[in-house]
Amino acid sequence: MANSIGTIGVLTSGGDAPGMNAAIRAVVRTALHSGLKVKGIMRGYSGLLEEEIVDMDMTSVAEIINRGGTILYTARCMEMMTEDGQKKAADMCRKHGIEGIVVIGGDGSFRGAGALAREGINTIGVPGTIDLDIACTEYTIGFDTAVNTAIEAIDKVRDTSASHERCSIIEVMGRHAGYIALWSGISTGSDAILIPERYDGNEQELINQIIASRKRGKKHFIIVNAEGIGHSTSMAKRLEAATGIETRATILGYMQRGGSPSCKDRYFASIMGAKAVDLLIEGKTNRLVAYQNGDFCDFDIAEALQMTKDIPEDHFQLTTKLTR
Ligand code: F6P
Repeated sequence: MANSIGTIGVLTSGGDAPGMNAAIRAVVRTALHSGLKVKGIMRGYSGLLEEEIVDMDMTSVAEIINRGGTILYTARCMEMMTEDGQKKAADMCRKHGIEGIVVIGGDGSFRGAGALAREGINTIGVPGTIDLDIACTEYTIGFDTAVNTAIEAIDKVRDTSASHERCSIIEVMGRHAGYIALWSGISTGSDAILIPERYDGNEQELINQIIASRKRGKKHFIIVNAEGIGHSTSMAKRLEAATGIETRATILGYMQRGGSPSCKDRYFASIMGAKAVDLLIEGKTNRLVAYQNGDFCDFDIAEALQMTKDIPEDHFQLTTKLTR
């Protein structure tokens, strides 16, 4: 049964992702269109606890659909992990008349969202992270832009690597998840992809692979290494010493989190942001907007946080088949 929610809040939390602004825009404009008032909460849960809350109107979100980052800023908030912090956050919502809240972020942000829901604030999560590591959804806002940034960079490194007949290690983001490495590695025809979900630390296998490929006449060797494995610079030194082939490391870092969002990220952000508001209007709470099997859907936040997903094994195996 639909409730009579009058004012909602929106915040972004955790690592920023291209498309977050498009999601904020969709939340604000869908809500205003339905006659709701909207408050923007700055700096994630920290801003909520510090009462950094501003009124938002149609123009607050003008000219942002094409912008990377988040106009609401973002933060990781330790206090929100405590029961006191969660109660204070809910009290702050009540003080400002915020009856429903849309949280755009990743798993950590949704733990806070679940807590707010338990404290009586209607809460909906929207998946925004470049890591694609939210189990209940096949898509997270920001992933497409991030992997496209990564492949553009890897293609460029490949040019210089080929010219100098070197081995290159390119480190992409993904502290706990290898989706960016897998997608960018396959899409650039890289020779090896190291991801936290699979890499067993067997550097000798990598060394053998590099030497064998050089013997076959291959001029360069591209390794895409996920941040979760890291140590690319020292790895490069060890590989060079063992193979005799000049080896360089390039760490792409935060450039993958920035930039104008791709069409896919803007589109998904617009649909997901609007859906979050529709759920609030329907009186729903403690739900996470998701995308599965070609449809937008929603899950209970607690259940969603229990779910797990893994890199598709056949995709990972394909890297080996295509790169040896
Ligand atoms: O945005 C996701 C991510 O890139 C993760 O892969 C990584 O663990 C994290 O951000 C690092 O973010 P920060 O340095 O801002 O804590």
